[in-house]
Amino acid sequence: MAAKMAALVMLILTLLVVRLDAENTNSVYHPCADSKIQRSDGFTFGIAFSSKDSFFYNQSHQLSPCDTRLGLASSSKNSQLALFRPKVDEISLLSINTSNFFPDSYGGYMVAFAGRKYAARSLPAFVANSSYIVTSFTLVLEFKKGRLQNLYWKRDGCASCKGKSSFACLNKQDCAIRTTSCKNRGGSVDCSLGIQLAFSGTDKHLRVFNSWYEVENLRQYSLYGLYSNLKDSLTSQYNKFF
Ligand SMILES: *[C@@H]1O[C@H](CO)[C@@H](O)[C@H](O)[C@H]1NC(C)=O
Ligand SMILES: *[C@@H]1O[C@H](CO)[C@@H](O)[C@H](O)[C@H]1NC(C)=O
Ligand SMILES: *[C@@H]1O[C@H](CO)[C@@H](O)[C@H](O)[C@H]1NC(C)=O
Repeated sequence: MAAKMAALVMLILTLLVVRLDAENTNSVYHPCADSKIQRSDGFTFGIAFSSKDSFFYNQSHQLSPCDTRLGLASSSKNSQLALFRPKVDEISLLSINTSNFFPDSYGGYMVAFAGRKYAARSLPAFVANSSYIVTSFTLVLEFKKGRLQNLYWKRDGCASCKGKSSFACLNKQDCAIRTTSCKNRGGSVDCSLGIQLAFSGTDKHLRVFNSWYEVENLRQYSLYGLYSNLKDSLTSQYNKFF
């Protein structure tokens, strides 16, 4: 009887811990503010679209898009901002619908960023020019004790589009579609951007994030099948290609 009670108490405690664990404890919603996260928190970051040069100060130092010296927010700079708040350590596929947004008309490059004092930003990634658009990306968010340290684009050296004639391999790293194949550009492909996220490193309780290992083991594009809202557009058309 006592053992049963103890087991029951343990079960209730476990449920409580799991419940608490599943709650968001991060109250920082601004991409240009610092936060320290734990597993299951939401984490806000931004992706800025602009020309490659506009992410550099004095043509030499790459700064965070949050840095006012870049002046990305000013209307004279041709840029666009997308904000996301994924759940930490959950594999997520972000999508940016390009039916009304042509990345090439905003400079064609993107930088992922978050934080102020502990500002982190990715290198600029080529998205599109008038000839080509890259639609599939993997972004790794690397944390140390819950603080974002680094953001980087993980590339597969065009492994996912090798031998597929609908794609071109740009600079030996990006699978690109000809813009003339895109909807609203004379073609039939939905050229929306898909950004697969992976979390690596540790949270503020030093717990190790696992989603990175999972993504490493997944073939690129395999996640698209899990997202029913993208199924009809992305998956079916990619199935035709792959
Ligand atoms: C900008 O670059 C020029 C030439 O590279 C250099 O002389 C100048 O000191 C730099 N200005 C700042 C504010 O870093
Ligand atoms: C993008 O938006 C268009 C128009 O609203 C829609 O038809 C299309 O399915 C969307 N694509 C994705 C990938 O959500
Ligand atoms: C678009 O980018 C590709 C890859 O960098 C390049 O080969 C091509 O010349 C560019 N096209 C235009 C019109 O800038």
